[in-house]
Amino acid sequence: MKLDQSLMNEFILFAAEQFPGEGVTLHRPVFGGNEKAYLAECIDSNFVSSVGARVTEFERGIAAYCGAKYGVATVNGTAALHIAMVVAGVERGDEVITQALTFIATCNAISYIGAHPVFVDVDKSTLGMSPDALRKFLFANAEMKDGVAHNKVTGRRFAACVPMHTFGHPCRIDEIAEVCAEFDIPLVEDAAESLGSYFKGKHTGNFGLLGAISFNGNKIITTGGGGMIVTNDEEVARKAKHITTTAKIPHPYEFVHDQVGYNYRLPNLNAALGCAQLEQLDGFVKIKRNLAERYSRFFAEKGVPFVTEPDGATSNYWLNAIILDSREERDSFLKYTNDRGLMTRPIWRMMTELEMFKHCQHDGLENSLWLEDRVVNIPSSVPMGTSNNPRFSVNPAAQR
Ligand SMILES: Cc1ncc(COP(=O)(O)O)c(C=O)c1O
Repeated sequence: MKLDQSLMNEFILFAAEQFPGEGVTLHRPVFGGNEKAYLAECIDSNFVSSVGARVTEFERGIAAYCGAKYGVATVNGTAALHIAMVVAGVERGDEVITQALTFIATCNAISYIGAHPVFVDVDKSTLGMSPDALRKFLFANAEMKDGVAHNKVTGRRFAACVPMHTFGHPCRIDEIAEVCAEFDIPLVEDAAESLGSYFKGKHTGNFGLLGAISFNGNKIITTGGGGMIVTNDEEVARKAKHITTTAKIPHPYEFVHDQVGYNYRLPNLNAALGCAQLEQLDGFVKIKRNLAERYSRFFAEKGVPFVTEPDGATSNYWLNAIILDSREERDSFLKYTNDRGLMTRPIWRMMTELEMFKHCQHDGLENSLWLEDRVVNIPSSVPMGTSNNPRFSVNPAAQR
């Protein structure tokens, strides 16, 4: 396909039609339910900070939605990832295997611990970590010492593997879990973007020891800022809650802390927003899948590859994406659309190209490099005015 001006004009018109009466941004929040009521209630209760009924309710609600036993709410998704890795046992000087094609938060969280990221390639079909690349990397680079996988090259321990479900599309997480089990490496899923996405019928974030979700303002539901650790392990959940709440030993009035902890607990005010948003999540997923279907038909007619849910996955289609022919075509598309007020964005600059991570070990990252040159995100919000539209049958609780 040659991307000419008439095709780009057609795309701009088509995208604008999907969002009637609003500016066309990549992803903005929709507050179509009980947000204001729950926030007002929360303010009236005086419980606006990190203690309050809405935090617990939101934790239970998200855990239940994901089919996980426990949820631990945090101030943002990065904090959730940070603590998920700490609880998984990652320590200063360890290595964490992840993908180079991800948002910076994944590697920031690894770095907060003083651990080092190492990068394996992604699949072109999922945009997420490739289990084949992971296996190949570990067979070439891992040696077991006292049952623990170490990097032959650096001598460091592989303390966790952190794949990411890019743009909400699940990676081949079951096979990744198998490889991690073979090498006895804890699996922590960066499910920041994939609330509402399932792989083989199981919600993402649920395949390893822990998963981390984000509720940033650009995510499928938002708490303003917020995150959640999900896990099925009671002890892991207890530890996560303990260190995200300053490691304070419960006592009616004494302040005793048994380790250096973090003030990472989600405030009740944000959780109130989250409870109202959660009521609308099924409706949002439905609307976004519907939008993706329309994009998919449009791009199929034009011969432009549109990123669809991988085999075995049911995706939330958080951010829609197309794959252009080359870096040059990508750049001219980005310039043409943004110059005309239609927001589009390239996929992230690979971690291995950033100053902080360019020295990190990797496997060549062939697919990642190919995708980095070609993938562009296109407007993906829940169209305004549709969250209460019966056509999309949003969860009735949202219309109370
Ligand atoms: C892949 C990925 N990981 C982690 C995060 C961190 O989430 P937050 O922005 O809530 O800290 C985000 C989103 O922002 C993300 O997209």
